[in-house]
Amino acid sequence: MDAITLLKTDHRAVEALLKQVQDLSESAHAQRQELFRKIDKELTVHSKMEETIFYPALKQKAKSKEDDDATQEVLEAYEEHANVKSMLQKLENTDAADETYDAKLEVLSELVKHHVHEEEHVMFKEATELMDESELEQLGIKLSEFKGQLLSGVPA
Ligand SMILES: [Fe+2]
Repeated sequence: MDAITLLKTDHRAVEALLKQVQDLSESAHAQRQELFRKIDKELTVHSKMEETIFYPALKQKAKSKEDDDATQEVLEAYEEHANVKSMLQKLENTDAADETYDAKLEVLSELVKHHVHEEEHVMFKEATELMDESELEQLGIKLSEFKGQLLSGVPA
């Protein structure tokens, strides 16, 4: 699977989980906490894959082709990941019964949606212009190998 298809598949999985958690009643504390744990894991693994493999490859390519817009896009994506991470940490430290829990989930969802939209409508388009099919295919292989390592708990 090429890198972009793989990353988009991850996006759809996170969106589905976010929708599930938002559909639960606010009083379903245990279920919300459990779903949040899955979202936390998905987003953490996904961000690591992008930050370790996809972003550096794209940034290097953008720099070598003097594509300032694409370089900027990658730099913005790192900052957006940092915001997502900070909201994940807040949620990890907040009890699901807390009155701010729902607000935090909502903001997390907005951050993720914005970031996914930006990647799919801007960054991935730039990536397909900067890299050819075989490069994207190679990156996809690296990403899925790395994902396998992260999920099996092998230190990467
Ligand atoms: Fe991302």
